Amino acid sequence: MSILITGGTGFIGSHTVVELIEAGETPIIVDNLSNSKEIVLDRIQTITGIRPKFYKADLCDMTALDTVFAENPDIESVIHFAGLKAVGESVSLPLQYYYNNLVSTLNLCECMKKYGVKNLVFSSSATVYGDPAEIPIKETTPLGQTTNPYGETKKMIERILVDVHKPNPDWSISLLRYFNPVGAHESGLMGEDPKGIPNNLFPFVTQVATGRRPYLSIFGDDYDTHDGTGVRDYIHVVDLARAHLCALKRARKVTGVEVYNIGTGHGYSVLDIVKAFEEATGKKVPYKVVARRPGDVATCYADAAKAKEVLGWEAEFDMVAMCRDADRWQTMNPNGYDA
Ligand code: NAD
Ligand code: UFG
Repeated sequence: MSILITGGTGFIGSHTVVELIEAGETPIIVDNLSNSKEIVLDRIQTITGIRPKFYKADLCDMTALDTVFAENPDIESVIHFAGLKAVGESVSLPLQYYYNNLVSTLNLCECMKKYGVKNLVFSSSATVYGDPAEIPIKETTPLGQTTNPYGETKKMIERILVDVHKPNPDWSISLLRYFNPVGAHESGLMGEDPKGIPNNLFPFVTQVATGRRPYLSIFGDDYDTHDGTGVRDYIHVVDLARAHLCALKRARKVTGVEVYNIGTGHGYSVLDIVKAFEEATGKKVPYKVVARRPGDVATCYADAAKAKEVLGWEAEFDMVAMCRDADRWQTMNPNGYDA
């Protein structure tokens, strides 16, 4: 049996494909390469010895997606990573974000119905909690106001999947709310490859540490946190990848819609990260404090107890591993996947 991985050449998808192969599963990737590169398949092959089947296709193209299902009648589950994810870009390109993220998911559900595939794991985000009503954040914490179209697509898709489940009660749908995925594969062969100037903290820090950028801008030091800078729950991408395997195992046994926070349960401030990175790698991270970034919340970290109790999953890698692996990837691939 095969598992369809949408967005499987992307950052989190590619790491999940490696973990699936190493667990003896057969992933099939579909990706339109809008935010990833085909060379990722070479890297997956180098790490695992297996080159997964790959379709370059857009999930918004129903004919192309139908072909993937028609040609692979052994698909029994789907992990749905495909989507546009840049918060700032979503504010300037709302139509593109709503169209891409919603239409791709609707098409995917149509195909799953048509071909009798009943297990779906969806990449949601802690962004659905908005400015969280409580810390640490539980799955029962009320959803909040999102501040951008990207976040709204995650909330809308969660709702769509809950509604899709009602007339299809034999489906199993896992909504995984990721906190802040960082780090890279320990081989240094796969990692995060943002286009242009990174929006997220970790890729920015690694680019500063390796001299590609002069300094880190810290967005505000007047938040109500232990040192005034924003606090987040950073999770190693390989831990996150493994959470998908646990969700998949459970999806094969139970039906229903289940929500899980996927984080470590620990909060690190921006200054904590600078210090941890310098200690773990021996490299300096010069910084300047600048104005707050609109839409940022002060503190966001998970109560990850449910994933441990029900899925039997918990994060294993610590902050030292996150920093070292991110730095190794950046050092071995100063221009990301570009030669
Ligand atoms: P990514 O951009 O590296 O991977 C997403 C992949 O989806 C890319 O390879 C892209 O080419 C592909 N894609 C986009 N639209 C597509 C379409 N219409 N058809 C086919 N392929 C398409 O992002 P990532 O960091 O790996 O994130 C994976 C998922 O996790 C996304 O849904 C993202 O919103 C979610 N998520 C990410 C984070 C994070 O910080 N990285 C946090 C929370 C949730
Ligand atoms: N930060 C800086 N300087 C930078 C980048 C970030 O100070 O150059 C700070 C931010 O202000 C924040 C922290 O570092 O306090 C983390 O910022 P990121 O941009 O790395 O991550 P966010 O928590 O803002 O957002 C991430 C993902 C979103 C997702 C959200 C919740 O990018 O897609 O987590 O899961 F929605």
